[in-house]
Amino acid sequence: MSDLKAALGQAVSAVFVALGLDESLGKVGVSDRPDLADFQCNGALAAAKLARRNPREIATEVAAKLAGDPLLASVDVAGAGFVNLRISDQALTDRVRALALDPHLGAEAVATPRRVIVDYGGPNVAKPMHVGHLRASIIGESIKRIYRFCGDTVWGDAHFGDWGFQMGLLIVAAGDENPDWLAVAEGDGTLDPALLADLDLAALDRLYPIAAAKAKEDTEFRDRARKATALLQGGKPGYLALWRHFAEVSRAALKREFDALGIHFDLWMGESDADPLIPAMVEDLKAKGLLVEDQGAQIIRVVREGDKRELPPLLVISSEGSAMYGTTDLATIVGRRRDQDPDLVLYCVDQRQGDHFVQVFRAAVLAGYATDEGLEHIGFGTMNGTDGKPFKTRAGGVLKLHDLIQMATDKARERLREAGLGAELTPEAFEQTAHKVAIAALKFADLQNFRGTSYVFDLDRFTSFEGKTGPYLLYQAVRVKSLLRRAADEGLVAGDIVIGEPAERELALTLDAFQQAVSEAYEKKAPHFVAEHAYRLAQAYSKFYAACPVLSAKDSVLKASRLTLSQTTLKQLEQALELLGIETPERM
Ligand code: ARG
Repeated sequence: MSDLKAALGQAVSAVFVALGLDESLGKVGVSDRPDLADFQCNGALAAAKLARRNPREIATEVAAKLAGDPLLASVDVAGAGFVNLRISDQALTDRVRALALDPHLGAEAVATPRRVIVDYGGPNVAKPMHVGHLRASIIGESIKRIYRFCGDTVWGDAHFGDWGFQMGLLIVAAGDENPDWLAVAEGDGTLDPALLADLDLAALDRLYPIAAAKAKEDTEFRDRARKATALLQGGKPGYLALWRHFAEVSRAALKREFDALGIHFDLWMGESDADPLIPAMVEDLKAKGLLVEDQGAQIIRVVREGDKRELPPLLVISSEGSAMYGTTDLATIVGRRRDQDPDLVLYCVDQRQGDHFVQVFRAAVLAGYATDEGLEHIGFGTMNGTDGKPFKTRAGGVLKLHDLIQMATDKARERLREAGLGAELTPEAFEQTAHKVAIAALKFADLQNFRGTSYVFDLDRFTSFEGKTGPYLLYQAVRVKSLLRRAADEGLVAGDIVIGEPAERELALTLDAFQQAVSEAYEKKAPHFVAEHAYRLAQAYSKFYAACPVLSAKDSVLKASRLTLSQTTLKQLEQALELLGIETPERM
């Protein structure tokens, strides 16, 4: 199913071609003056420049040839040579009728589906998730859903950070603190669960920050942690036993947090899963002459001709013999090629890791593990505090995801009560609604911006039921749901769509624009196009609702048509929100 803008673009392009002009000039966009037209084409201006002719003259020729096209109610020339196009009610009605029956609500699947891995979330063992991980999770989840919706085969992978230096740090810190834990570390790998009973999430949360801070000041401690990392990776049985325990405790806690956020990974692979692939990869890199010795370490040089600044080499094996962050990333590319054979891997990670990905991707291309087009870093800005720096708690620490969700839910409850919403819900249903409002607030606040932009954390604004917020959208969706329930109670049956009123036209044109929003989000890996569409749709419905009574429409044909428009709007709105990872409650 093609959207009206695309269909018009084709018709206008054909006219340009018929006039001996270039096809690309026939591009059609949404009108700058909705009072005058639905769409416009500015191609006559460019054509005039090329042909050294008068733009109005060309526009007039184009308009004359378009007159009578069944898609159009009117075509006019305006200003310097703009062609203004108004869609006919018939074409609009046909399009919305088809869209209402389409399981994809008017959005088209891609012509050639691909196999895509979205690498996102990126949580680490023991390190608390911070706002960077929040953004990675929210954006990555949405991109995964958009890609799947467009017909690709998609895997979301958490790429769990479970194999780097922080593991050595934790092993040394645990051994220093508790003789039982030291016994496990120095043991033969058989596990006595009693010895590790106290090594729970709270213990990890306490140990890691202390160890990380100590490693910054104490070189002896840092060296021991580095050695421990190398010994762990070398397979020391006691270290492996302890490491496995750390990873399990962390993973269980992280899964709970991700669940609460509505983030679901298809694969929960870790950096450690790439470890078995490293020896053969290192041999291969050596054989290809890519690995060079540098002060006791093994590196790959990744500079390319024409680079504006010198990119440091990729560190593959440290002087202690450890695999590094880039090593596991490179080996993961090898593993994914073996297991999923993706056409494209999207790394949804903070843009401050940009250099890291350039290094890894270039090394992968040099080694023949991937092509430049097959790997893409989807960077994003930070969520900041009012000081303009990445958001911290009042005490100055990293904000844990768990606490953030808690804070947002508290606020959502307050907001619901303030607005007099949810009063007739049972306490459980009220809690569920508050949770949905909180998640919608956090996710929409994030996804409404282009991902590259940083934004300021402002829970008051995010949770408001007014303005461009997640809660506003949920409120609009719930309002339609309640209208549909009332219609069902009155025995009203949805029927054929007729479009007449300006507010109906505007709603229909907005429904039509879903395809464009989805395809732009897909192309640019940018969910904000879908977020923007959801907001526009909610607004268009709101206007329609005010101007076009549904239940009290003047005759049954109109009632049935407006009911179908309402149902279709709700479906598309919920679909758009679903692509953003946002669930709507039934009532509030
Ligand atoms: N664990 C990393 C971090 O916390 C993010 C991982 C991103 N994905 C990747 N393939 N490197 O910074």
